Amino acid sequence: MKIRKAVIPAAGLGTRMLPATKTVPKEMLPLVDKPVIQYIIEEAVASGIEDILVVTNRAKSAMDDYFDYTPELEDRLMRAGKTEELEAVRRTADIANIFYVRQKETKGLGHAVYRAKRFAGDEPFAVLLGDDVMMAGVPVTKQLIDAAELHGASAVGTQLVAPQQISKYSSLKVEPLSARVMRVLDMNEKPRPSEKFSDYAILGRYVLTSDIFRILENTAPGYGGEVQLTDGLRELCKCAPMVAVDFLGRRYDTGSLKGFLEATIDFALQSGEVGAWLREFIGNKAKSF
Ligand code: G1P
Repeated sequence: MKIRKAVIPAAGLGTRMLPATKTVPKEMLPLVDKPVIQYIIEEAVASGIEDILVVTNRAKSAMDDYFDYTPELEDRLMRAGKTEELEAVRRTADIANIFYVRQKETKGLGHAVYRAKRFAGDEPFAVLLGDDVMMAGVPVTKQLIDAAELHGASAVGTQLVAPQQISKYSSLKVEPLSARVMRVLDMNEKPRPSEKFSDYAILGRYVLTSDIFRILENTAPGYGGEVQLTDGLRELCKCAPMVAVDFLGRRYDTGSLKGFLEATIDFALQSGEVGAWLREFIGNKAKSF
């Protein structure tokens, strides 16, 4: 099972980050020096993905502009001898084969993934949620692909979350299979505390077989009146093998202000000169509190 394709649902309205996201897509907000979506695409590419479909909406054309050439800017940078900047700008345009499709109505994550049916065809594919940014040694998508290939199964990325947090996610019913890998038996979306299966939450990464399309076609709206990917996966895990990978790495919910700030600080601390400067800046700030 070779996984060459990935789908990035990025058609959400960004309502948790208003007013910043009124005209700028949340995926285009800069984390240090790159937009959020670039981190996601770089993770896919580092995991061996060649073709990427971004599911957008009519307010998000800044994303496809960003991954295009910018002849005027590039020409100016070249003439000014700004080679580092020129390379950074060009790299974004040559990063992968990126395709776009619009989700014309906001009908949920399951509905957005269903838009990838023609793109995926019969091939298994990865799904990376557009606002879940990961910091990991081995890219999280690669960890899932390895487990999916080893077990001949679909895979979801999971971690334990605090018991009071699970109702923000999907909750998994699992049984251990091998180190960090569990068999998925059931799941539910945003359960009330009494309904949860466990505190293992799906966190923004999936490897799916094309069977999901046949299921999503007939999945009725669920939580919040939207077609939930979780409801489709619930059916998929009952008719085909599915594993949950307790991945190594840290996940940031950049669609929320706190998650976005955490990611900004952590990624800035990791980045060379700026990191050293920020460490000193935060150290001095801490002293004055
Ligand atoms: C979505 C999924 C949910 C998953 C979560 C991870 O929820 O529906 O199952 O646990 O992403 O980030 P959302 O964040 O869109 O509410």
